[in-house]
Amino acid sequence: MFKIQTYLDRRLILKTRIESGIAIFMGNDESPMNYTDNIYHFRQDSSFLYYFGLNTAGLTGIIDFDEGKDYIFGNDLTVEDFVWQGYQPALKDQAQKAGVEYTGSLSNLEDFLKKAVTNGRKIHLLPQYRAENKLKLFHWLDINPLETNKAASVELIKAVVVQREIKSDEELQEIEKAVDSTVDMHLAAMRMVRPGILESEIAAKVQEIASKDGGNISFPTIATIHGETLHNHYQGNQLKEGDMFLLDCGAETAMGYAGDLSSTIPVSDSFTKRQREIYNITLASHNTSIEMLKPGMPFKDIYYQSCRILVEGLKELDLMKGDTEEALQIGAHAMFFPCGLGHQMGLDIHDMENLGEVYVGYDGKPKSKQFGIKSLRLAKPLKPGTVLTIEPGIYFIPSLIDMSKAEKRFTDFINYDKLETYKGFGGIRNEENFVITADGYKLLGKKKPKTIEDVEEQKKLGN
Ligand code: GLY
Ligand code: MN
Repeated sequence: MFKIQTYLDRRLILKTRIESGIAIFMGNDESPMNYTDNIYHFRQDSSFLYYFGLNTAGLTGIIDFDEGKDYIFGNDLTVEDFVWQGYQPALKDQAQKAGVEYTGSLSNLEDFLKKAVTNGRKIHLLPQYRAENKLKLFHWLDINPLETNKAASVELIKAVVVQREIKSDEELQEIEKAVDSTVDMHLAAMRMVRPGILESEIAAKVQEIASKDGGNISFPTIATIHGETLHNHYQGNQLKEGDMFLLDCGAETAMGYAGDLSSTIPVSDSFTKRQREIYNITLASHNTSIEMLKPGMPFKDIYYQSCRILVEGLKELDLMKGDTEEALQIGAHAMFFPCGLGHQMGLDIHDMENLGEVYVGYDGKPKSKQFGIKSLRLAKPLKPGTVLTIEPGIYFIPSLIDMSKAEKRFTDFINYDKLETYKGFGGIRNEENFVITADGYKLLGKKKPKTIEDVEEQKKLGN
């Protein structure tokens, strides 16, 4: 945990932004895999962590804006629990670490909330993503668990987003720790990639590094020779000469702060000519995007500039044709780049995604529904203290190519004959993490090999 003052200050700031009522911050419970006692790795809710810091299951935090008081509710473990789970300090002792004076049991919480309802007090909730918490809110507040998010408080969401999206120096130190571990995961992978090895062996190595560094992976590892599938979690393939291996993985620190990096590595000693050509287009797009990072710059503008460079490069290879601006306008570039350019990162790898993309990435403004740009998670102007990823890529997705060709989509912009010859190529993505500074940006963590020469050089260290 950070020092007590951090949590006191965070809650104090929130109290200056919400006028009245109470906010409920649902901590997470243990989550069973296949029977009650066989549980997934515990992950605390990130907003609960942000305001209350405690990384144990079964807690709920309350901020009372009218009284200016903070509470943590949860049941103390019994001695029998200690037998199986080990000793855990009493809730009132844990709560002191977050500067919270008032604690109570879950039945106290139920009474507290029922009284708040009876007194007609305003109750602020964040959107919920865990079924257990939706059921608790149903039990306590009679909110239909299938429609919990209709009861979410836009006032609270906005206040939390405005606060969590600006990272303090102590948060940046934690994030850099996570990114440094993540760089080590990528360096280890680059040295392992060779014909004959399994995707799962490399995935196991990166998990080992994240665990050894005291935390965990920050999201399920993507370790694949089919990089064209954006979130490919299958790890059963064996690497062979000529393949490219795409690794997208991250570490999260024990306190929950994340890193998120991607690399594309040739399985042979070097990239083929075709692979180099596509790789260098994505790299040019990547580097131009980085150079545009500064306060006030709308991320949507950076996205379009990154796409412009991809389209120009693909035109040089005869994969695309026609007017670049028209291609961008109708979304033809999404045939190769069907996702966003990047996202905020912090206590979540897609930071605050559960609070709603329009609030987190769009300042409450509507999002485009066009294929491609609809997956852009961040579009709004950047602020100093924003932490984000840059991750343009080029993907050759056979089913998307077949469907678009059959439907004669984008025929003024796509050379389908040439594109046919790229089916089976896979996908290429690099990803790095940055913080926006007062006048520009700073790369977070150690530098990861990014050019073709640097990646090939790193590979040699493993052979
Ligand atoms: N690294 C996975 C993602 O950004 O979606
Ligand atoms: Mn990412």
